[in-house]
Amino acid sequence: MSDQVMYTLEPDEQPTHWYNVVADLPVPPPPPLHPGTRAPVGPDDLAPLFPPELIAQEVSAERYVEIPEPVLDVYRQYRPSPLYRARRWEQHLGTSARIYYKYEGVSPAGSHKVNTAVPQVYYNQLNGITRLTTETGAGQWGTALSYAAALFGVECEVWQVGASYDTKPQRRTLIEVFGGTVHRSPSRLTEAGKAFAEDHPGSLGIAISEAVEVAAQDPGAKYALGSVLNHVLLHQTVIGEEALRQLAKAGEPGADLVVGCAGGGSNFAGLSFPFLREKLAGNQDPRILAVEPSSCPTLTRGEYRYDFGDTAGLTPLMKMHTLGHDFVPSPIHAGGLRYHGMAPLVSHAVEQGYIDAVALHQNECFDAAVEFARTQGVVPAPESSHALAQVRREALAAAETGAEPVIVVGLSGHGLLELGAYATYLSGNLEDDPLSDAALAEALANVPVV
Ligand SMILES: Cc1ncc(COP(=O)(O)O)c(C=O)c1O
Repeated sequence: MSDQVMYTLEPDEQPTHWYNVVADLPVPPPPPLHPGTRAPVGPDDLAPLFPPELIAQEVSAERYVEIPEPVLDVYRQYRPSPLYRARRWEQHLGTSARIYYKYEGVSPAGSHKVNTAVPQVYYNQLNGITRLTTETGAGQWGTALSYAAALFGVECEVWQVGASYDTKPQRRTLIEVFGGTVHRSPSRLTEAGKAFAEDHPGSLGIAISEAVEVAAQDPGAKYALGSVLNHVLLHQTVIGEEALRQLAKAGEPGADLVVGCAGGGSNFAGLSFPFLREKLAGNQDPRILAVEPSSCPTLTRGEYRYDFGDTAGLTPLMKMHTLGHDFVPSPIHAGGLRYHGMAPLVSHAVEQGYIDAVALHQNECFDAAVEFARTQGVVPAPESSHALAQVRREALAAAETGAEPVIVVGLSGHGLLELGAYATYLSGNLEDDPLSDAALAEALANVPVV
């Protein structure tokens, strides 16, 4: 038996195209609607916010989109990300499962977010845009966009969710090192921000409203979103395309289970959609599983209906699982999973029965993450720890039955700038904060009736 643990790719084996799952879905996903007219959104409606190439990708039904050479040139700095067999964790768990993790923490910003930041900045710069605005939760997306903006000489302005701004100052510094500017959200710079008290903990929905408002008022500026939208998920499919090739190199004809954490859905979709293509084609039959926090259980307890992507209601209405656009999740450490909605494509795939979802409490996730760090040597981002905790459950179940499933898990980022969260966990002071039925009902009450 081979004892290889790391699988990579030769330069000529690297993906040259992103994969668009829309081409293979038997039932097309419902279109986004204009927030005012409630008619399906056309390319013109999106033009104030995004450059034409990204709008074309947003509405595309083409199966493959070629990755532009300048983007590939940056991908080469850190891609392929390695696929590892977690042999030491398997041994520790005493499992007969074979666990492979796709590690996106090797990117310059420390997460998968760079995969979409680079093309988003590239297409904007191509269209003469000099300033990009965005939101960020824990700060991974803001870091990725600032890095990409620095490469292409674009200004980057980030509204960071207040709760994360206050507790994760090092992320803010990293964004500034890459040349970005960071504002605490809610800020005093926008009408959307001024609707809330200055010390409000904030939410991704509020931060998105602020960034959209500023971009819409400046003709030289556009807005960049780190998750949720079709084009963002498209860019992330390099993860799954590589993983399929690397898994084959490991001698595995396919996966039995593909697991990822889901905030807005981009790393999860990026890993799983190429596997879904193989499933729909009858080449493999993996179970595909999204993991979310119990305090922000969008897929498992939200309703599948049209809602706004942001708190102020500036974005198009998207058909998605939602907890309500003004829902403010409790300040769990996985800041990137604190989003009220879900990518419409992921929501649609869940509705169609291709994808399952579970919700976990953060103490269980940190427990799995610490175990993973002590066996595999990687400190996972708190977001990624959700996927690992579910894999541990599955691996322990396999140990009971002797089954030998091939599990592929997305390790979307490292947690080296999240050591404060680990310190809280290790001191026994981390709290689980499940969402009550009353709070859920209150948040859902404000979802528009479409
Ligand atoms: C490391 C990491 N994983 C996961 C997520 C969740 O986002 P998404 O669901 O879009 O992958 C984030 C978001 O910030 C993140 O930083």
